[in-house]
Amino acid sequence: ILQVSGTVLERKDKNPKLATGDIEVKVNEVSIINSAETTPIIVADDTDALEDTRLKYRYLDLRRPIMQNKLMMRHKITHSMREYLDSKDFIEIETPMLGRSTPEGARDYLVPSRVHPGSFYALPQSPQLYKQLLMVSGFERYYQFARCFRDEDLRADRQTDFTQVDLETSFLSDVEIQTMMEEMLQKLMKDVKGMDISIPFPRLTWEEAMNRYGSDKPDNRFAMELQDITELFTNCGFKVFQDCIANAGSIKAVVVPDKASMTRKEIDKITELAKKNGAKGLVTLKYLNGEVSGPIVKFLSEDEIHALIERLTLKENDLVLIVSDKWRITCEVLGALRNHFGSLLGLKKKDEFSYLWVTDFPMFEYSEEDGRWYAMHHPFTRPRDEDMQYIDTDPGKVHAIAYDVVLNGYELGGGSLRIYDGAMQDKMFEVLGFTEEKIQENFGWFVDALKYGTPPHGGLAFGLDRIAMILSESDSIRDVIAFPKNANAKCPMSDAPTPVDEEQLQELHITITEKE
Ligand code: AMO
Repeated sequence: ILQVSGTVLERKDKNPKLATGDIEVKVNEVSIINSAETTPIIVADDTDALEDTRLKYRYLDLRRPIMQNKLMMRHKITHSMREYLDSKDFIEIETPMLGRSTPEGARDYLVPSRVHPGSFYALPQSPQLYKQLLMVSGFERYYQFARCFRDEDLRADRQTDFTQVDLETSFLSDVEIQTMMEEMLQKLMKDVKGMDISIPFPRLTWEEAMNRYGSDKPDNRFAMELQDITELFTNCGFKVFQDCIANAGSIKAVVVPDKASMTRKEIDKITELAKKNGAKGLVTLKYLNGEVSGPIVKFLSEDEIHALIERLTLKENDLVLIVSDKWRITCEVLGALRNHFGSLLGLKKKDEFSYLWVTDFPMFEYSEEDGRWYAMHHPFTRPRDEDMQYIDTDPGKVHAIAYDVVLNGYELGGGSLRIYDGAMQDKMFEVLGFTEEKIQENFGWFVDALKYGTPPHGGLAFGLDRIAMILSESDSIRDVIAFPKNANAKCPMSDAPTPVDEEQLQELHITITEKE
């Protein structure tokens, strides 16, 4: 840090590459205010430092112009969203960080209470119940840039502590809420990227998204859609297809252009990827010189092969990936492969921004492992009125009035209309396997509030870090968070989490025992 005084002069040889390239300073006096050691990482856009080194010296990493720009963009995003919400009469209200641990959802971060030995607060996974209670209180439009905490395995788009742009409204329909959100995102794209995007965004039902893209967060910057070919094989000699059809499964295909030349080894890798995503196997076919080839061709009739070529409108050098399994597995596996090839073929342009809504999610998901139903969004989501008839007999048929905003294959935000009637809320918990006592014990405080004239309400929460990641064209959410955790949920700078002094533990009435 230098202090320089002198005269500013116009340069003879101007340097257009520098922001200050037109001038120079004729120095009269220089003093060193503070000196710097040689930095452990190069402070420039291009760095070869490993991520953990960058995170250890994050304060230096953040000096790099590229990082400064990312955080500035994040600031512009919050500013633009605040402006919009303010213009629509939303008011910002803070909710507690130390709350109650409740079942359902992700794993909580717990905070031991010193004053109440053996009791714990939980850090909020989201302000969901508080924002609903604010609706009961009569605040018709709430928002908050809310810090949220989830003890989940980390990925490029997930952090332990992250920020939601959380909002809730009373008396609006799902489409009215979605329309406001579209306007907010339209303004955001203009303010931050200078881009005009058109609204309304395309809407896909969950079922359509799964059928066409094999994902509930489809990346529609590229086509390569899934195609159902079950009916082509109703009399097929290939046992795997026969069994699949007999078990009411689905046979679907994805056509990858220009990849028929993939080697055996490369195809084995794709098969591995399919298996990792839950497939028992993967059928691959190549279309070369006007002929379909592949290990299963010998089991198919001429007619079936022709029907396949026609249905998939195969072109020279196409690679065909086929999965036959239960509908959901077939979709998800092919969705993962579609994504893989989308990246491999360079079809995911970072400077292209494609928004869409996914709507009509199933209310419940069945877990074979736990032998029970789970709420797909959360247990406070309102089911569609017309589906309530199935709630006791066939919960799988019940749809939720829930919606996700998707951008470039990322779930940017999710929301729903909420249950505002205590009896329906009790019913929901009953389907999720809660006894009357357990409902009372865990959620009684919340369900009670619904008795006092709760307005119909609904809302949504965006992942702010994800918005900043995608708009700044970054590969990881960590790039847009000043001091993030690494993939191992550690902070390489402060070393958190760390063991604490015995004294602190005693105060909290906690003993640590080593696992055998
Ligand atoms: P949901 O759980 O879908 O909904 O979260 C909303 C959005 O928050 C972001 N998000 C995350 N971002 C970074 N790291 C994480 N670990 C993480 N988890 C979630 C995603 C996601 O779309 N209370 C409801 C919202 C509502 O119904 O209003 C909720 O939390 O972008």
